[in-house]
Amino acid sequence: MTRLDIFINRMTAQRDLLNLLRDQNLLPEGPIMEVGLGNGRTYSHMIETFPGRRFIVFDRHVAAHKTSIPPEEDLVIGEIRETAQNYIGSEAALVHADIGTGYPEKDAIVMSWLPGLAAGMLRSGGYAVSGLALDHPQLEMLPIPDHLEPGRYYLYRKI
Ligand SMILES: C[S@@+](CC[C@H](N)C(=O)[O-])C[C@H]1O[C@@H](n2cnc3c(N)ncnc32)[C@H](O)[C@@H]1O
Repeated sequence: MTRLDIFINRMTAQRDLLNLLRDQNLLPEGPIMEVGLGNGRTYSHMIETFPGRRFIVFDRHVAAHKTSIPPEEDLVIGEIRETAQNYIGSEAALVHADIGTGYPEKDAIVMSWLPGLAAGMLRSGGYAVSGLALDHPQLEMLPIPDHLEPGRYYLYRKI
């Protein structure tokens, strides 16, 4: 499998899991956390997919397309491990995190703190959609649809 195949599978899984939450009307009340704005493609998809929500968006810098830059008051700039601490207890409906690097040793470090942050920001019954596994006792891993490649993207519900 080429890196292009892997990328396409990852993006397909990301989009389809977000759409599944919409189509099955699964999200409880609450804001949506976008952990890693990047180019803003996912942010652009989520604001259309979940209209009427507040989005709080994290990144160390703004490098998004100009059409996908969140309002200043919803943009949290800095190292997510530190900045997101202020959002523990936000009772979020959804945390989406796309901050994997493809380097196992770097991702292992992120996976040591991201699960706790995601669980801490979510309300009970809220969902996490993540490119990295979120191993945490309060996050129940849910099955993903059969057409998605296992291990490309993960879906969790906070207990
Ligand atoms: C893969 S990109 C996200 C792509 C995004 N889903 C999109 O639609 O374009 C990951 C982003 O997360 C940011 N990021 C990764 N780790 C971070 C960290 N520890 N603190 C702050 N930002 C981080 C990077 O700067 C990058 O912009």
